[in-house]
Amino acid sequence: MANYDLIVIGTGPGGYVAAIRAAQLGLKTAVVEKRATHGGTCLNVGCIPSKALLFASEKFEEAGHSFASMGITVPAPKLDLAAMQAFKDKGVDGNVKGVEFLLKKNKVDAYHGVGKILAPGKVEVTAADGTVQVLETKNILIATGSDVAQLPGVTIDEEKVVSSTGALALKKVPGKLVVVGAGVIGLELGSVWRRLGAEVTVVEYLDRILPGMDGDVAKSFQRILQKQGFAFKLGTKVTGVDTKGKTLKVSVEPAAGGAAEVLEADVVLVAIGRVAYTGGLGLAEIGVETDKRGRVVVDHHYKSTVDGIYAIGDVIAGPMLAHKAEDEGVAVAELLAGKAGHVNYDVIPGVVYTFPEVASVGKTEEELKEAGIAYNVGKFPFTANGRAKVNNTTDGFVKFLADAATDKVLGCHIIGPEAGEMIHEVCVLMEFGGSSEDLARTCHAHPTRSEAVKEAAMAVEKRAIHM
Ligand code: FAD
Ligand code: NAI
Repeated sequence: MANYDLIVIGTGPGGYVAAIRAAQLGLKTAVVEKRATHGGTCLNVGCIPSKALLFASEKFEEAGHSFASMGITVPAPKLDLAAMQAFKDKGVDGNVKGVEFLLKKNKVDAYHGVGKILAPGKVEVTAADGTVQVLETKNILIATGSDVAQLPGVTIDEEKVVSSTGALALKKVPGKLVVVGAGVIGLELGSVWRRLGAEVTVVEYLDRILPGMDGDVAKSFQRILQKQGFAFKLGTKVTGVDTKGKTLKVSVEPAAGGAAEVLEADVVLVAIGRVAYTGGLGLAEIGVETDKRGRVVVDHHYKSTVDGIYAIGDVIAGPMLAHKAEDEGVAVAELLAGKAGHVNYDVIPGVVYTFPEVASVGKTEEELKEAGIAYNVGKFPFTANGRAKVNNTTDGFVKFLADAATDKVLGCHIIGPEAGEMIHEVCVLMEFGGSSEDLARTCHAHPTRSEAVKEAAMAVEKRAIHM
C-alpha cells in the first residue's frame, strides 16, 4: 500500500496550490521542498520581494517628485536602504509563513530536503543534514519550477554581476546599473533601482522591449520609460563583462554585427529569461522525457511520459507565471481526484508591475495578423479619462482587439496605473466569450480609470464618448 495518494516535489505557487487542492479533495498528500521555506521562487526571490521593492521605491519617487505639485511640501526624502530591504524581508516572511500555515491547516505533510524520483511511486528525500528517507505514493507531481538563464561567458557572483536574486538584495544603490534583457525582470528591477538613484541602461538583443507583448504597447511603454530616465540599447548584445577593475566594463556590440563599445557599470543585472529546473530529480534514469529546452513533456492532463508522474508550472511549457502555475496546480489535483480540471490558456493575464503598469490578456495584433484573423481595434487614451487627468497620471491607454465578424474580444492591452487590477474585468469577459459590446454596455462607476476600459470597448464600434 502506498503511504500517500500524491507527493508534490516543490512548494512554489504550482506545488503548494496543487497540494492544498488535492488535500481538499480528500487525497492524502505530502510535499517535498529543498528550501527552508515554502513558496518557491515567487514568494522567496520573485514576485513578492520584487513587488515590495517596487511599492516602496514608487513611494520614494512620489515623495521626491510628485508631492510638491499637489501642494504637499516635504523635505527631499532620504533613503534608508537597509530599512527598505527589511520592509521587503518582512513581507516575504509573512507570505512564506502563510503557506506553511495553509499546508498544516489542510493536513499536508511537509518534508524538507531534495526530492529525487527513484521509480514511479517512490520519492527519496535527502535532508540538509544528509538524512535520507524514501516515501511511497500513488502519484508524483513535479513542480520544481525554474532557474536563472546564464549568459555564456559571464559569471553571476550575485554581488556585482547579479541575477534577479542578487538585484533584490543589493546593499547599496549602484551609480550605474546595466541591465541585460528588456524583459519583465529587467524593466521591473531596473525601475526599482532607477527610482532609488541609479543610472539605468538596458541592453536588449532584439530591436524592441518586452517581446511577446503587443508591439504598439511595447513602443509606447519604451517612450514612457525613456521619459523616466531609462536608456535603451536595442539590437545589441553583451559579449563579456570584465570584473577586474574598480568598475565593471561591459562589452557590447550590435546584434547584427558592427563596432564594439564598452559600457561602465557598478552592477550588471543579467535578466535574459529563466530555464526549467529539473536538477537532481533523476528524470533521465526513469524515462521522463524533457524537450529541447529541458522542460518536462506532458499531455493535456499534465501526465509525463511515465505513468503516475505529472508536472506543472515553470518546469513545463507555457508562460512562466505564478498564476499559470497555480491554475495548473488546481487542475492537476482535480484530475487526479477524478474531476474535470482544466486551464484556459487563451485567458492568462500578464502584468508588468512598473509605473505605469502594463497588463495584457489574449492575443496581440501581431498574433492576429499572423493567424490571418480579421479584427477591429478600439483604443482609448488615459489623457481623456477624468480620474487619470485629475490624478495627473495620464500616460498610457487601453486597447481592445475584437473579432471583425463576431465582435468577440480576442485580446486587451493596457498601459496605466493599476492596469494589473483593471485587466481582470476583461479576463472574466473573455472567459465567458463576451463581445466588446457586452463590456461597452456594462455600467462603470464614475470617476474611475476603469471607465477607460469601457470607452476603449466602445471605441471598437467608433462610438467612444470622451474622445
Ligand atoms: P517555483 O516557484 O520555482 O518553485 C519550485 C520549488 O521547487 C522551489 O521552491 C524549489 O526550491 C523547489 N525544488 C526544486 N527542485 C527540487 C527538488 N529536487 N526537491 C525539492 N524541492 C525542489 N510571476 C508572476 O506571475 N508575477 C510576478 O510578479 C512575478 N515576478 C517575478 C519576479 C522575479 C524576480 C522572478 C524571478 C520571477 C517572477 N515571476 C512572477 C515568475 C514566478 O516566480 C514563477 O512563474 C513561479 O514561481 C513558478 O512557480 P512554480 O511553482 O512552477 O515554481
Ligand atoms: P523575459 O523572457 O521576460 O525577457 C528576457 C529578455 O532578454 C528578452 O527581451 C530577450 O530578448 C532578452 N535577451 C535574451 N538573451 C539576451 C542576450 N544575450 N542579450 C540581450 N538580451 C537578451 O525574461 P526575464 O525578464 O528574465 O524574466 C523571466 C521570467 O520571469 C519571465 O518568463 C517572466 O514571465 C517571469 N517574470 C514575471 C514577472 C511578472 O509577471 N510581473 C516579473 C518578473 C519575472
